[in-house]
Amino acid sequence: MSHDDFPTDDPAVITAGLPYANGDLHIGHLRSYVNADAFTRGLRKLGQQAVYVCGSDMHGTPIAVNAAEEGVSPEELALRHHEQYEETFPKFNVDFDNYGHTHDETNVALTKEFVRTWEENDHVYEKEIDVGYDPEADQWLPDRYVEGTCPYCGEHARGDECDEGCQRHLEPGEIEDPVSALTGNPAEYRKREHKFLRLSEFQEYLQGFINRLEGTNNAKNQPREWIEGELQDLCITRDMDWGIDYPDDESGGDGDDAGEREDLVLYVWVDAPVEYVSSTKQYSEREGDLDWESVWKDGDGEIVHVIGRDIIQHHTVYWPAMLRAAEYTEPRAVCATGFVNLNGKGLSTSRNRAIWAEEYLDEGFHPDLLRYYLATASGFERDVNFSWDRFAERVNSELADVVGNFVYRALLFAARNFDGTPDVGLTDDVETEIAQAMDDYEDALNDYDLRTAGERTVALARFGNEYIQRNEPWKLDDDEAAPVIRDCVQLVKAVAVLLQPFTPEKADEVWAQLGESGSAADATVGDCLQEPPAEFGEPEELFTKVEEERVEELNEALEAKIESSSSDGDADGDDADADGSAIELEPLVEDRIGFEEFQALDLRVGRVESAEGIEGADDLARLEVDIGHEVRQIVAGIKQLHDLDDLPGTKVVVVANLEKAELFGVESNGMVLAAGEDADLLTTHGDSVPGTRVK
Ligand code: 2FM
Ligand code: ZN
Repeated sequence: MSHDDFPTDDPAVITAGLPYANGDLHIGHLRSYVNADAFTRGLRKLGQQAVYVCGSDMHGTPIAVNAAEEGVSPEELALRHHEQYEETFPKFNVDFDNYGHTHDETNVALTKEFVRTWEENDHVYEKEIDVGYDPEADQWLPDRYVEGTCPYCGEHARGDECDEGCQRHLEPGEIEDPVSALTGNPAEYRKREHKFLRLSEFQEYLQGFINRLEGTNNAKNQPREWIEGELQDLCITRDMDWGIDYPDDESGGDGDDAGEREDLVLYVWVDAPVEYVSSTKQYSEREGDLDWESVWKDGDGEIVHVIGRDIIQHHTVYWPAMLRAAEYTEPRAVCATGFVNLNGKGLSTSRNRAIWAEEYLDEGFHPDLLRYYLATASGFERDVNFSWDRFAERVNSELADVVGNFVYRALLFAARNFDGTPDVGLTDDVETEIAQAMDDYEDALNDYDLRTAGERTVALARFGNEYIQRNEPWKLDDDEAAPVIRDCVQLVKAVAVLLQPFTPEKADEVWAQLGESGSAADATVGDCLQEPPAEFGEPEELFTKVEEERVEELNEALEAKIESSSSDGDADGDDADADGSAIELEPLVEDRIGFEEFQALDLRVGRVESAEGIEGADDLARLEVDIGHEVRQIVAGIKQLHDLDDLPGTKVVVVANLEKAELFGVESNGMVLAAGEDADLLTTHGDSVPGTRVK
């Protein structure tokens, strides 16, 4: 691994967090896979060899639980979903170079090899721990089979994860007041011998690693508190049948060997990330243009993990330690994507508050439109707020009005008047403009910033539109119009090249309209300035606008869908607070205050002027809020809960006379009012202007 700018001489391996093979894919899932796919394509644009691998996560308790409910074997259930994912991803132009699964031969063998190396290097020991047990079901209760109270924050939690509270990974035996998820009975803790990876030995290594790590700020900063605190060793085994058996020794163990535990399977978080390596190995063995061992063992490769932000700890603490313990190399970067919200609220699969991958396609929308939205809405890190209104707005105003309009106008004029590219040179100004866009695009990708790369591309098309408008070639004779149109055709070519990672099929349509051979996928950033073909015919419109009535229909259908599944009462508790109905309300405050005390609060209507995340702070955003008399800088804990780009123009309610505070080194001069855990921002319903007192 190097820290040189992309493109480097070594191949890059980009991975996306493995989807659990136990449900349908929705736009929340697609976000990571689309982003990683766009990033891979973007690196190729820079001339980097880049291979994109992934696979289905077949093991773990959620799959075993779902399979038991359906009355099928976990393997059957997982394979069915795996096959479905293999079909769905390509429909969104998510083009994995290899897509395996964690139960395939390669991964089973490689996972066992990892564990054997850990054993040989004395990184594993056995220890007696408390494991949940359900006497009625006569079954051990690993991970999701047990629920209870998080010992760190006191919230309700699952056996392996404090999913409703502090998000910490929980080790077996840690959860308090354990209750069996099978019968609802209190679970017993019984003593069991389990295997542990000595994570604590890697503390110093991990502290160095996190300083070297590239990627998104949340992935680089969030782990610091874990790595600097006391690191607990990781229990790597579970009392289950479904999973990869704990390996015996290679001599064909008989169960007597100290390392052998035939009654245990490996924890799902052991074999899942190993699939990143296995999938690369499968690619290597099939294609032969990449040596997986030199990438993963010798460090001659650039490993980039793209994941959801809920699994940062697994990828920045456990996985690097697992790699190190097995004498493998470390990743260069981890990019953690935020969540996708729907109409400002969290997705809820149980409540059907989701837009399913197939459902989106059934609406007849082109997959590239969603790709563009997901990859450029907030780049990697921030949460994306999906709504059909915003979808339509972005498709119409960015793709149709800017990109589509420019490409169509330029190519139509060129085809009608010159049968293709006019035979004159490119003007210096336009050459400089394109060269600047190429540089900015390269910088953005080197910063793992997809959003800026996308914005820069659309800005180039916008420049093209303004250029054609300013020069009015339709008023010029052919000799005068030729240089203008020559410039525009070059700009079209550059836009096609730079847009390709986001909208690969649409870029290919432009490529064909330009009379180029092959695919825009094969073009690199350098080709933005290569001369376009001399001849091509009249183009067709690239994008169709989404009509307002269509948006209304989509909104109504979505509401009806959510309504009907909420009334089915089938919430699984995963995200039962997504529409507020299952929130446990805080008790009312008994102590009354006088009106004067209330009046001491100076509440004002404000209008958000700008909103940006604060570097290094996972949740905080810096807002500039106009409160009539002045514009205030206010720090608010809303970074992950709102699409910050949507906020400018929003009216809010501000506590104007709150003492100033400093958060993450940024002064906060006031507070923005918001309701609940989702930070639902308070606004006004009339047209009161900024500065109006709220009484
Ligand atoms: O959290 C999840 O959805 C897991 N299936 C991700 C696994 S990623 C990896 F490390 F393998
Ligand atoms: Zn907790």
